[in-house]
Amino acid sequence: MSLSLIGRSISESATLKLNETAAILRDKGDPVIHLGGGEPKSRAPMDALLSTAGLLNTAEIRYTPADGIPSLKKAVIRYTEEYYHRLVEPENVICSGGAKQAIMVCLQAILNPQEEVIFPAPYWVSYPEMAKLCQAIPVPVIPEDGTFYPRLQDIEERVGSYTKAVIINSPNNPSGAMYSAEFIADIVEFCEKRGLYLIMDDIYHRLIFDNRKPINCYDYAKDLSENSKLVLVNGISKQYAMTGFRIGWAVANKKLIEVMTNIQAHQTSGPSVLLQRAAVGAINGVQTSVESLRVTLENNRNVLVEQLNSFDGIKVTKPDGTFYCFADFSVYDKDSTRLAHRLLEKVQVVTVPGVEFGMEGYLRISFCGSIKDITEGIERMKWTLDPNSPNELYIGDRKLIRDWT
Ligand SMILES: Cc1ncc(COP(=O)(O)O)c(C=O)c1O
Repeated sequence: MSLSLIGRSISESATLKLNETAAILRDKGDPVIHLGGGEPKSRAPMDALLSTAGLLNTAEIRYTPADGIPSLKKAVIRYTEEYYHRLVEPENVICSGGAKQAIMVCLQAILNPQEEVIFPAPYWVSYPEMAKLCQAIPVPVIPEDGTFYPRLQDIEERVGSYTKAVIINSPNNPSGAMYSAEFIADIVEFCEKRGLYLIMDDIYHRLIFDNRKPINCYDYAKDLSENSKLVLVNGISKQYAMTGFRIGWAVANKKLIEVMTNIQAHQTSGPSVLLQRAAVGAINGVQTSVESLRVTLENNRNVLVEQLNSFDGIKVTKPDGTFYCFADFSVYDKDSTRLAHRLLEKVQVVTVPGVEFGMEGYLRISFCGSIKDITEGIERMKWTLDPNSPNELYIGDRKLIRDWT
């Protein structure tokens, strides 16, 4: 079969694939515990549902402007003012099919073939593939000091004449690390000085713990004119538990938004009006669900970290936000794919191999499920890996006896 070079170079989405595998095993009746997921389990806010139901009832569901319906742009403008203290105009905003599409059309709008996009590792699985889709070169940067907190000098060293953009995702998927205000200030200043695009993927910015305050990249920008190359990306998927609604957005200079809009117009057109209406409801509605999700996640994080710390030899960095913990399991197996498969086969626990996020030896464990899933999942993992754990394990009525060390 003759398929394109680009098409063949793009790998399957590891996380989506795991969701599929877990669903197949569950359908077979296997007692799967999914600690690999990337979506909160809470319900979408009522305001989102009411907002879209009203429109659905009219039975007149039409095309939308390629850059989003005016009411969603207005809601995004209000959101940007409230959380970033920055007043932008409708021409500075594009609404897309998820933050994913907003990032993708942004990269398509700015990257030429062979140009480079830098992002710290561990990174969200889609960044490298998105860069490749633009025939550009992804350049992951592993922090030299072995932490999940990049330093400007790590990034600076990788910037060359082909560098076009930097992507920063804080709080970070998969590490849960929230980068310091000093780092954000440094990277904003650095990108401005070097004329680089800086894409801030802020999709988890309200899901932070231990009384942390969200960090606002605009606080550190000297250039807030239409020449600014700062791009702010956000969406409803995580904070409002609305992953299936597929609405995200970007805020940037008007020329860039115009080009992104042209690309999106031919790619997908504007997102479904029903889903945009739901996003308007969520953004403008009562915000209690966000805080309640945040509190639940913080509690889940505490339980997970405590349980992981009871393993011998695992290195755990306490997540500052998100719903992921990225733990170093290399003491058990340096090959994270093999390890994740072993856990799935032996005890039906889904985790995501660290190698997918650019760091081998780690597993990403999600804490967006129930406490019961977290506790039971970790107990099963411990039984599989830690020789110091009890020899017997019950999965439902099934009694397992460990016959390996
Ligand atoms: C870091 C990061 N950015 C963007 C996205 C995409 O979000 P959306 O559902 O809005 O496309 C995700 C989803 O997992 C993510 O983890």
